[in-house]
Amino acid sequence: MNKKKFFVTTPIYYINDVPHIGHAYATFAADILARYHRQIGDEVFFLTGTDENSQKTVQAARKSGKDIVVYTEELATKWQSTWKRLGISNDDFIRTTQQRHKSLVEEIFEKIDKNGDLYKGKYEGLYCVGHEAFLKEDDLDEGLCPDHKTKPDHITEQNYFFKLSKYQKTLLEHFEKNPDFVKPRERYNEVLNFIKSGLQDISVTRETQKWGIPAPNDPTQVIYVWFDALINYISANPSKWPTDLHIIGKDILRFHAVIWPAMLISAGYELPKEIFAHGFFAIDGQKISKSLGNTIDPLKIADEYGVDALRYFLFKEFPFGNDGDFSFDRLKEVYNADLANGLGNLVARVAKLCETANLRFPIRPTNSKIVFDKKYQIAVENLKFQEALNLIWQKTTKADQLIDKTKPWELIKKDIHKTARVLAQLVDEIRVINTHLTPFLPETSEKIRRQFAGPKIKSEPPLFPRKI
Ligand code: MSP
Repeated sequence: MNKKKFFVTTPIYYINDVPHIGHAYATFAADILARYHRQIGDEVFFLTGTDENSQKTVQAARKSGKDIVVYTEELATKWQSTWKRLGISNDDFIRTTQQRHKSLVEEIFEKIDKNGDLYKGKYEGLYCVGHEAFLKEDDLDEGLCPDHKTKPDHITEQNYFFKLSKYQKTLLEHFEKNPDFVKPRERYNEVLNFIKSGLQDISVTRETQKWGIPAPNDPTQVIYVWFDALINYISANPSKWPTDLHIIGKDILRFHAVIWPAMLISAGYELPKEIFAHGFFAIDGQKISKSLGNTIDPLKIADEYGVDALRYFLFKEFPFGNDGDFSFDRLKEVYNADLANGLGNLVARVAKLCETANLRFPIRPTNSKIVFDKKYQIAVENLKFQEALNLIWQKTTKADQLIDKTKPWELIKKDIHKTARVLAQLVDEIRVINTHLTPFLPETSEKIRRQFAGPKIKSEPPLFPRKI
């Protein structure tokens, strides 16, 4: 039987700074799905990478006083090592300065050109480097970009334009035929309304810039960074295309759900199957972004609480897709309640009871078929991570109740056979819980798997030591 394939992507990240917790969010989400799909036996391709041909890279390199090539190498390495430290199981890492990427960008640019979808024109407008996008006068707040608080550059250039307007009707049809093309529903409606309001052609080259991929038909121009960046999803490994799922933040939805599909149709590629836009989180009520300088380093939290605690908190605290707030007080509270007490305590209790009873438990065969709770599967497959975690924690509560009801520490003095049955049931439940934990808490799940592999089960140091 042919394996089902599952190809998932994260956005590729700008390298003007190191990863912050907002970037870790999408990357963890993709990792959860990749691990889940591997568990059910799918052939997974999980792609992430760095978006390097941006003006932000030029500015950041200049600020650091380093040569730009040295700077990009250093930052790309930093991003890769961060994902490694955070246990991200990506199958490839694409950098847009790599040859495999440049070649395909040129090829697609030429295909779109041959298809009659590029023309030269004059562009005059306001450009925000923070967004790497043009802004309208109406978007500004007292002359400044409302997100980056910087004054946009006034640009007058001869550029190549992409006939986005030509694809309005085709895109509308695609949206109407594929109600799950963009999720959640409100984001789908938002994009649909945007397309209905009328699409304008967009400038896809820059005349005054040097850093980037030269336009093949006119080397005096470099290709617009978004036009280049989106192509990473194919250039990493063309044989994997189309992707099953692009995970992105809601701020970059139009690029992915409007411009990207139009480029693909023009160049003759299939469209992505689904685009999911997650929400933004703030820190203690304040917007976080590297441009504003109030970022949280995910590595610091991982060092203090462990990677799994961070993963748990980010997906348990609010639904993926909604906006939320990050607070260190809440992190500690949730850690102590759900991880130190909830899961950690249950595992410790059952292990201790087994150790005291000194019984032998059946070894779980390594090739045994994985059985998931159906509701959990539906939740995970629909990126309802909070719901999936709640289902697991309901199971831990039930297991705790079983211990309280049967009181194995008393039972053992009266009836060893009955005790053995109760403990076997508890061990089985821990194993079931653990199967469901694997995509979310991979490190913890590996520890539990080893501890409960049988035949002898022993106490181990606490999985999540309490924080005071
Ligand atoms: N390079 C582009 C993406 C190109 S994809 C072909 C880019 N990079 S980014 O580094 O600025 O941002 C990457 C992602 O991080 C975006 O999806 C964005 O939504 C996400 N986040 C940045 N700040 C965030 C929060 N505060 N909260 C949640 N996600 C956030 O855009």
